[in-house]
Amino acid sequence: MLKDAIVSFGKPKSIAAEAYRTLRTNLEFSMSNDGAKSILITSSHVSEGKSSVASNLATVFAMQNKRTILVDADMRRGVQHKRFDLTNMNGLSNYLANINIDQDKLIKTTEIPNLYVITSGPVPPNPSELISLNRMKDLMSALKDEFDIVIFDGAPALPVTDSIIISSFVDRVVIVASSGETHKDELKSVKLALDNAGARVVGVVLNKVDIEDNFYGKYSKYGKGYYGGYYSSDDDSKKKKKRGGKK
Ligand SMILES: Nc1ncnc2c1ncn2[C@@H]1O[C@H](COP(=O)(O)OP(=O)(O)O)[C@@H](O)[C@H]1O
Ligand SMILES: [Mg+2]
Repeated sequence: MLKDAIVSFGKPKSIAAEAYRTLRTNLEFSMSNDGAKSILITSSHVSEGKSSVASNLATVFAMQNKRTILVDADMRRGVQHKRFDLTNMNGLSNYLANINIDQDKLIKTTEIPNLYVITSGPVPPNPSELISLNRMKDLMSALKDEFDIVIFDGAPALPVTDSIIISSFVDRVVIVASSGETHKDELKSVKLALDNAGARVVGVVLNKVDIEDNFYGKYSKYGKGYYGGYYSSDDDSKKKKKRGGKK
C-alpha cells in the first residue's frame, strides 16, 4: 500500500516525515535565487536509500501544493512503479528508445494530489546510451515547463555513468549516504565525479542513522532512522543539522 511505502504520506506526523520536510526547506532555500526546479538524487552504490529519499521528497513537495513529477531514472533497477502501485509500461526506457510508447501515458497520476510519476520502463540493454540522447534533454525541458519540481531517482554513481550524465543537466544534486555502510572515500569519489561533470551538489543526506544508542538501537532493525542528517555544501562552515526518526 502506498501509505506503507511512503512514510511522508502514510505518517505525515512522524519524525521521518518531519526530516523530509526539513530537507525540502533546505532545497527551497538553495533553489529560490535562480528559479531552479530539477533535482537528482544519487549515491555511490545500490540500497543506500536513493529511491526512498526521492519518493519521500517528491511527496512532501506535492503535499505543499507544488506540481511535482518523480522520474524513475534508475532504468536498471526501477522501483517507483512498485511503490506507487503503477504499471511499468510506457516508462522512461520506452520513451527514450521510442519503442512501445504511448506518449499520453508516460506521465502517470498517483493517489497523492499534485504528484506524478514517470516509471523506469522495462530494463533496456543500453541505459547510459539512452540517457545520453537529446531526447532526455528535451524531456527535461518539457517537464520543467509543465511542473514546479522535477525529481530524478538516479542510478548509483560509481558503477554506472547514468547519474553523472543526468547531473550535468539538472539544477541541483543531492547525494545519499548510508550510515555505517557508505565509505568516506566512495562519497568523495562520487562528489568528484559530479563536480567534474559540472553538477551543483547541494548536500548529503545521511540515511539509516542509528538514532538510539542503546540496546534497541544497536541490535534491533527498528533502531534505524529513515533520514539522518543534511548539510549544505554551499555553506563553507558545513553546518550540520542532525535529525533522525524511527521507521
Ligand atoms: N532509513 C531507512 N531505514 C530502514 N530501511 C531503509 C531506510 N532507507 C532505505 N531503506 C530500505 O533499504 C532498501 C533500499 O532502499 P532504496 O531506497 O531502494 O535504495 P536505493 O534506491 O539507493 O537502491 C529498501 O528496502 C528500503 O526500504
Ligand atoms: Mg533505487
